[in-house]
Amino acid sequence: MRRQPENLDGYTAEFSLDAFGPPDVALRSLARDPLASFGPGLHIVDRDAEGYQARRPTWKELGKVSTFTLNAETQAHLAERGVWLHHRHADYYVGAKIDFEPPVAIAADLAYNFPIRIGAFSHLNGGYIQRVSIGRYCSLARDIQIGHGFHPNDWLSVSPLQYAPNYRGFSEFAARHGARRSDIKTIPFVFGKPTTIGNDVWIGNHVFVVDGITIGDGAIIGAGSVVTRDVDPYTIVAGNPARVLRSRFDTNLVERLLELRWWRYSLADLGAVDFSRPDVALNRLEELIASDEISEYLPDVITLPLSE
Ligand SMILES: CC(C)(COP(=O)(O)OP(=O)(O)OC[C@H]1O[C@@H](n2cnc3c(N)ncnc32)[C@H](O)[C@@H]1OP(=O)(O)O)[C@@H](O)C(=O)NCCC(=O)NCCS
Repeated sequence: MRRQPENLDGYTAEFSLDAFGPPDVALRSLARDPLASFGPGLHIVDRDAEGYQARRPTWKELGKVSTFTLNAETQAHLAERGVWLHHRHADYYVGAKIDFEPPVAIAADLAYNFPIRIGAFSHLNGGYIQRVSIGRYCSLARDIQIGHGFHPNDWLSVSPLQYAPNYRGFSEFAARHGARRSDIKTIPFVFGKPTTIGNDVWIGNHVFVVDGITIGDGAIIGAGSVVTRDVDPYTIVAGNPARVLRSRFDTNLVERLLELRWWRYSLADLGAVDFSRPDVALNRLEELIASDEISEYLPDVITLPLSE
């Protein structure tokens, strides 16, 4: 079933470009004629009193799209600020705000055309990640797939070419080979909710997370899982589809953990805490907080595209 706009709870606006894919195609298209190149697939979703409306972006909004070159120099610049990006060096185009709370270490591919937020002390070891907010102290293993979207399944075709004719440069190719230009007149395809991952979440190897899922603080996702439903905090799930195996801790301890939210603090302030004994750690943390010996970690967020 096609995801309808009412599934976009919590959205104010989203800037989405459908011609992502080979950066050279996307960049060439943008440089020449952004609106025409992206066709009806380029849209913004606004929420107002009437509900959700999809509309074409204004030129001012298009001005937000910029490029970001990851080379040895920009990589070093980011690393100095606590953002370790281990992608291949290339030009990326950024069509949305990408926020990193340092320090983070990212070896997964990120799709920069949709909003992403990654919290401090989280590491992503591999896979392809887009349209997601990830909390602090998360451990994401290899080959993880998040935020991949969906195709219409009740339209004439399942192809994105129905709303983004130049996707992957295909309409350019067709025009070069004699096709007459015609705009495809169908409604823009509306993306569903982004995915939300809490703090201190461990996701095992080779996991697929369906769009719009919320994974609670402290949850564990077993290797090879397909996550199709929200996961409660401190719950271990596994399998395809992922099912609950058990809770990590008893209810009382889970409540204390969710109340204290230890991830508000920097690793540098947690030296006195015995991580291997959560109940003892919580007692110690409560003392440290009560005596003002530690205060919340609130680093400056690093946003791509870089302004300096
Ligand atoms: C899920 C996991 C964390 C173990 O959790 P656990 O609660 O200790 O689970 P157990 O080992 O006691 O297994 C409980 C049941 O779940 C099953 N199970 C465990 N992991 C599973 C998985 N990934 N997928 C499907 N079933 C799984 C077990 O077979 C067992 O089933 P049974 O009761 O029918 O015998 C672990 O198996 C896992 O998948 N870890 C991820 C490892 C990884 O990806 N590492 C990458 C490096 S970061």
